[in-house]
Amino acid sequence: MHKIIIVSGASKGLGFGITERLLSKGWMVAGFSRKTNKKVIDLKKKYKKKFIFELMDIKNYSRYEKFLDKIKKKGSIYGLINNAGTVNEDLLVRQNDKHIKNLLEINLLAPILFTKKVIKYMMINSSGRIVNISSIVAKSGYKGTVAYSSTKSGLEGMTRALSRELGGKNITVNSIAPGYMKTDLTKNMNPKKLAQIIRRTPLKRAGDIKDIIGIVEFLLNKEASYISGQSILVDGGLT
Ligand SMILES: NC(=O)c1ccc[n+]([C@@H]2O[C@H](COP(=O)([O-])OP(=O)(O)OC[C@H]3O[C@@H](n4cnc5c(N)ncnc54)[C@H](OP(=O)(O)O)[C@@H]3O)[C@@H](O)[C@H]2O)c1
Repeated sequence: MHKIIIVSGASKGLGFGITERLLSKGWMVAGFSRKTNKKVIDLKKKYKKKFIFELMDIKNYSRYEKFLDKIKKKGSIYGLINNAGTVNEDLLVRQNDKHIKNLLEINLLAPILFTKKVIKYMMINSSGRIVNISSIVAKSGYKGTVAYSSTKSGLEGMTRALSRELGGKNITVNSIAPGYMKTDLTKNMNPKKLAQIIRRTPLKRAGDIKDIIGIVEFLLNKEASYISGQSILVDGGLT
């Protein structure tokens, strides 16, 4: 029976990179996002049997069961990478309430509700790995990211509490907190702000999704079976 890793937000950026790497290492991957693209279609052609991709908005809670029903027929659910996320930067005093609520829903509420559904299957198997993609701002904060930082700190709280609930079932729960990486999420960042981040980073460069993918892969492997409740900060030494 194949062990399946679920990746939310698998269509681009970090989620796509994780999906591509896990497939190349022989894992079966079930990914979802709201939209698809050529890279996803090409990956589907390359890994016909091992890659399941669904169009699903993580806010569409009533779709979860259908998605999980489909994938559990193909194997056993072993891993969950809570990666899907969005950003909306503004000073809190003027940030639109709708944007704040949307951030909280996509980045925190939905991952908690989705994880709740997924862990049922991991608990039956008495094994599993959950990796939550947090952010450096969960620890450091950053001007203009009050709502976003709150969602990522929340995700890290979820990581610690859930690791205590699931340890007895041989399920580990960890988060990875990347610093800045060049993806669609950050494409509108002010170049001056980026230059300032690089200047202050001891390793003198921006992050790359490859800096994170290897850690996700490691956390899924046997060698990581005694690591749980942790947040691994990957920021070139910035903090
Ligand atoms: N880039 C950075 O510098 C950075 C730094 C720290 C942490 N992170 C975190 O890393 C994770 C991945 O970010 P990224 O940089 O790879 O961003 P990205 O390139 O914008 O990719 C985000 C992914 O999430 C999906 N997604 C967004 N909203 C969704 C929704 N409502 N339902 C389902 N899927 C949704 C997107 O697909 P669709 O739009 O098609 O739905 C896409 O596949 C996020 O959690 C982000 O907060 C990023």
